[in-house]
Amino acid sequence: MALVSLFELLDHADREGYAVGAFNCNNMEIVQSIITAAEAESSPVIIQASQGAIKYAGLNYIIALVRQAAEGTAVPVVLHLDHGTSFDQVMQCIRFGFTSVMYDGSQLPLEDNIAQTCKVLEIARVFGVSVEAELGKIGGTEDDISVSEKDALLTDPAEAEHFVSETGVDALAVAVGTAHGLYKGEPEIDFERLAEINRLVSCPLVLHGSSGVPEKSIKKAIELGVRKFNIDTDIREVFVGSMRKALTNNPSEIDPRKILGPAREAAVEVIREKIRLFGSTGKAR
Ligand code: 13P
Repeated sequence: MALVSLFELLDHADREGYAVGAFNCNNMEIVQSIITAAEAESSPVIIQASQGAIKYAGLNYIIALVRQAAEGTAVPVVLHLDHGTSFDQVMQCIRFGFTSVMYDGSQLPLEDNIAQTCKVLEIARVFGVSVEAELGKIGGTEDDISVSEKDALLTDPAEAEHFVSETGVDALAVAVGTAHGLYKGEPEIDFERLAEINRLVSCPLVLHGSSGVPEKSIKKAIELGVRKFNIDTDIREVFVGSMRKALTNNPSEIDPRKILGPAREAAVEVIREKIRLFGSTGKAR
């Protein structure tokens, strides 16, 4: 199946009240884990790459891997840029075949974020590429972007309404208390704020920093309009944990397949659990 954009997935998710997982990749094994999990659950899936992942693997490799994965499967797959802070990087991804991009102008003053997002949308529309934007600042570290606890800023619902009506963006990432990376305790999600944003904003909402968020909070967030959950840390932990175990059990192992193979299998399981939690099992169309 050819790659699709967020339009094809999130409208249906909204109508039926479920969410789609957006899983970060940076190598072949993780792309394979994501696709194997989506197929096993018969679920649509978003495979996303951050600027850091693109720097590590190379844009052409990421595109080739995900395109190959999509072409060989019957489940719908989106190739999405995660946290594109550079306008040029976003344009490059659109030009070379990403079907969805996040333009992250959350570090900019509101009106500049609106102006830049509109510029991205104007071009993305020509190519049928969907655009996610961010308002507020999500704490923690996602590859090469770090926002300290002090600088993390929750999304203002009135600003979100203004932002979406000015830009017409396809999905909005909101800061409501989640953070990228490992949590020290249980994340405190501001559900009242999320409910208010959902009341004022018509587009699907995105929750970054969804690894480690308890099940009941994920379910509540779905009720309050979250249609895309970003997961990176939970995959990394399981993947590297499995590699560590393989090396500990056999320190003299020199065959990468014996270390990466079990890690790939372990990642499938954690991704399947997330897909079931998000309610997208059986939703591939
Ligand atoms: P986690 O670090 O919680 O997996 O979040 C990933 C993310 O939001 C990527 O944008």
